[in-house]
Amino acid sequence: MARTSAQYVCQECGAAQPKWSGRCDACGAWNTLIEEAPAETAPKGLGGKRGRAIDFAPLDGPTTPTPRRVTGIGEFDRVTGGGLVAGSALLVGGDPGIGKSTLLLQVVAALAGEARCAYVSGEEAIDQIRLRAGRLGLTGASVVLAAATSVRDIAAALDAADGPDVVVVDSIQTLYVDTLDLAPGTVAQVRTSAQELIRLAKRRGFVVMMVGHVTKEGMIAGPRVLEHMVDTVLYFEGERSHQFRILRAVKNRFGATDEIGVFEMTDGGLVQVANPSALFLAEREGEVADACVFAGMEGSRPVLVEIQSLIAPSALATPRRAVVGWDSGRLAMILAVLEARCGVAMGGADVFLNVAGGLRIGEPAADLAVAAALVSAESGRPLPAETVVFGEIGLGGEVRAVARADARLKEAAKLGFTRAIVPTRPGGAASSSFAAEIQVAEVAHVAELLALLHEPAVDRPQAWRAGRG
Ligand code: TYD
Ligand code: MG
Repeated sequence: MARTSAQYVCQECGAAQPKWSGRCDACGAWNTLIEEAPAETAPKGLGGKRGRAIDFAPLDGPTTPTPRRVTGIGEFDRVTGGGLVAGSALLVGGDPGIGKSTLLLQVVAALAGEARCAYVSGEEAIDQIRLRAGRLGLTGASVVLAAATSVRDIAAALDAADGPDVVVVDSIQTLYVDTLDLAPGTVAQVRTSAQELIRLAKRRGFVVMMVGHVTKEGMIAGPRVLEHMVDTVLYFEGERSHQFRILRAVKNRFGATDEIGVFEMTDGGLVQVANPSALFLAEREGEVADACVFAGMEGSRPVLVEIQSLIAPSALATPRRAVVGWDSGRLAMILAVLEARCGVAMGGADVFLNVAGGLRIGEPAADLAVAAALVSAESGRPLPAETVVFGEIGLGGEVRAVARADARLKEAAKLGFTRAIVPTRPGGAASSSFAAEIQVAEVAHVAELLALLHEPAVDRPQAWRAGRG
């Protein structure tokens, strides 16, 4: 009989190792090895038995349009690609207290008129959910509530002909399957619980929306495969000390992933924000010297962040260079390029750089925005209002194109920005239709950025081209 000792499976790449280690030998990821019981029988291959051949169908055939449940909460419907698709599974991730439970309660309440809706909470008692519904003014909605954590019991209630059409599970980390001898929240429990619920949703045709906790790094906790298993992954984010929240589609089998929905958290729950730029720019008043808004990408997600800089005369022999949220080596490089290629010398000054909001930027695409913030601080001249900047800077001072320029511009337009300083498009390609709302100034060299900053946009209309330039 084969020895059935435990094996350690990497949750990133799936490689199995006999011993635990901090780093996966196969893919190099850290802290991804999880102990799993080995499969009862080793994979055997197909053997000699022949299956029934599958049928192939042509690409152009009749399709049944996917009916969608439209909530009427416009920002939510936009992010889901036009409503919830029957039989689909959604995962909603976000920091604790950001408003996931509130959002999903509002969503099911909005759907309650036309669909049977259920809200299953493993985190809160029914009384707490009722209290929240009271705060939100939703007590009249015909949503049924349950406080449960056993997947077997939950499935028994959902697997009925007159079962619900839309189910919220808050959260997937609190559920457990009783056939696994592991605590709720462990990788195997989370994966198995989600698998059971998704399978049931597909079979019964109901929509299941699962809340997922996020780790310190901001990823949904538990196995990465969770994101592969569901049809749609949404992230709900924002700073808890601020009012605004952004709902983002990171993956969507039924819609685009570069859509965001913007909400404001009020005493009466989440309210859609018709004009997000008003919220976002509330702290930024018009033209601000020393700062620059960078249109960045976090993985597949576009994010706008403010890069602030401060330049002060130094009393030290070796002036200070302090960076929060960016690479200090990269800052040194930008300073050297500005000095060597454009004659902007900051060698005798203390230079501080801060990415507002606590975000850490890893992209070289922030180079141009950093340069703009530095030059603006050095010269005391602000950038034109409502301008975003992105582009990579080479050692010769040349500005290089970066990936996903359209997604960045689209996000900037969504957040109300009207101008962008971007790298010259390779091959002189025209700006895409996303940039229609944005005036784009293309720069090929840092010196052109300096010229733009030193002469306000109104004086140099030829530099700013309307979109589709
Ligand atoms: P919640 O939905 O419980 O967050 P999550 O499920 O993501 O952990 O929301 C928690 C926060 O939202 C809480 O700190 C209070 C705030 N809130 C309001 O400001 N207004 C409201 O109407 C509600 C229901 C919550
Ligand atoms: Mg919650």
